[in-house]
Amino acid sequence: MGKAKKLFIKTYGCQMNVYDSERMGSALAADGYVPADSPKDADLVILNTCHIREKAAEKVYSELGRLKPLSEAKAASGGQMTVAVAGCVAQAEGGEILSRQPMVDLVVGPQAYHRLPGMVARARGGEGAQIDTEFPAEDKFDHLPEAPKARRAPAAFLTVQEGCDKFCAFCVVPYTRGSEVSRPAEKVLAEARGLVERGVVEITLLGQNVNAYHGAGPDGADWSLARLIRELAKIEGLERLRYTTSHPNDMTEDLIATHGDEPKLMPYLHLPVQAGSDRVLKAMNRRHDAASYIRLIERIRAARPDIAISGDFITGFPGEMDADFEATMALVREVRYASAYSFKYSPRPGTPAAEAEQVPEGQKAERLARLQALLTEQQTAFQQACIGRTLPVLIEKPGRHPGQMVGRSPYLQAVHLDCDPGLTGRIVDVTIEKASANSLSGVLAA
Ligand code: 5AD
Ligand code: SF4
Repeated sequence: MGKAKKLFIKTYGCQMNVYDSERMGSALAADGYVPADSPKDADLVILNTCHIREKAAEKVYSELGRLKPLSEAKAASGGQMTVAVAGCVAQAEGGEILSRQPMVDLVVGPQAYHRLPGMVARARGGEGAQIDTEFPAEDKFDHLPEAPKARRAPAAFLTVQEGCDKFCAFCVVPYTRGSEVSRPAEKVLAEARGLVERGVVEITLLGQNVNAYHGAGPDGADWSLARLIRELAKIEGLERLRYTTSHPNDMTEDLIATHGDEPKLMPYLHLPVQAGSDRVLKAMNRRHDAASYIRLIERIRAARPDIAISGDFITGFPGEMDADFEATMALVREVRYASAYSFKYSPRPGTPAAEAEQVPEGQKAERLARLQALLTEQQTAFQQACIGRTLPVLIEKPGRHPGQMVGRSPYLQAVHLDCDPGLTGRIVDVTIEKASANSLSGVLAA
């Protein structure tokens, strides 16, 4: 093996991309790649892209434009910068990327990352541009090494499920990530045990449709997410579990019950509804109505009264009228969210809603502003209500000021406090003194 080569990965989008980037990094570490702080001087640059909203592909092309002079400088000094486009834009655009930006050496879709090291070696060996956007039958994670044995940050992601069969009319995920595949339970348990051995105390289970998880169990039966959580909770040293993202229709009785009786499952649930109008929900192909979502939230709160509910919303979906939008506002007032993400509808090429007549941009924006004002009000109220409470906080990393550390509350809030950095990875009681829209601060409880 020659001298260490430098790798820079830029990650866009969701937590699954963050997880994938980590696994790509460890696969390439086996070939002698070490992380670089910037793309300047890197021997390999990977853009792990997102295609979910807005001019995603355009952003990638401008990033490639910025890389071009760096790549030329590298070549002028006798080096070689290999440029890879990975992620959902790679999957959606495929060979188009190579024709629009010939500096790109390889295009790799999310299901082919286990073949990335070979593709890189071939590209660098002068075999020309490489492209792989196949959906293989095998589990890519079987072929990707786990992160190096070094001590890990106390909170980690673990992908348990990928892809989606729901086909919401606005969404590219079923096309870019493919149909729903659950990893076998035994593999998830083994990876979780490995993470805990390396210092992880909180694991967030990831999947585009994580609560539809149905991985093969060691007993031959399919395990549900609830079953998986109950088994994971038995791992000693693993203190906290979370999961994201869920679809309302897959919130089973058993999973709801788990929120009530499994203390390691944190009282926070991201449960997107997208809209509050039955007409729009139907057009979105969400396959549930507003009333059933509200009833579902009530049942979850009956099991776990303090649970923080978070959601996703889209304004200006094709056909959305003023009255439909008011129904979304009414749903939000009824549910009372602890946090939420909201977006203007953005037509995604190849999805059914992209073909429909569009709501004017101004109207989308105006509705988004009103919705965000209401959601911010609710989020602030949730944050304020924490003042005076003592919450168990997992200390994660140093904060902005010397002596300050940042941790997470059970409700996924960032909490700032002054404490010994030696408490990293410990769960300590913190009395909350101040709250802002996005974080809390407090002191160690006596
Ligand atoms: N336009 C706007 N928002 C979208 N989302 C997904 N697709 C689109 C789109 N085409 C949002 C949804 C989803 C979140 C991850 O992104 O709210 O839950
Ligand atoms: Fe996309 Fe989620 Fe709908 Fe699947 S359930 S199509 S990932 S919005």
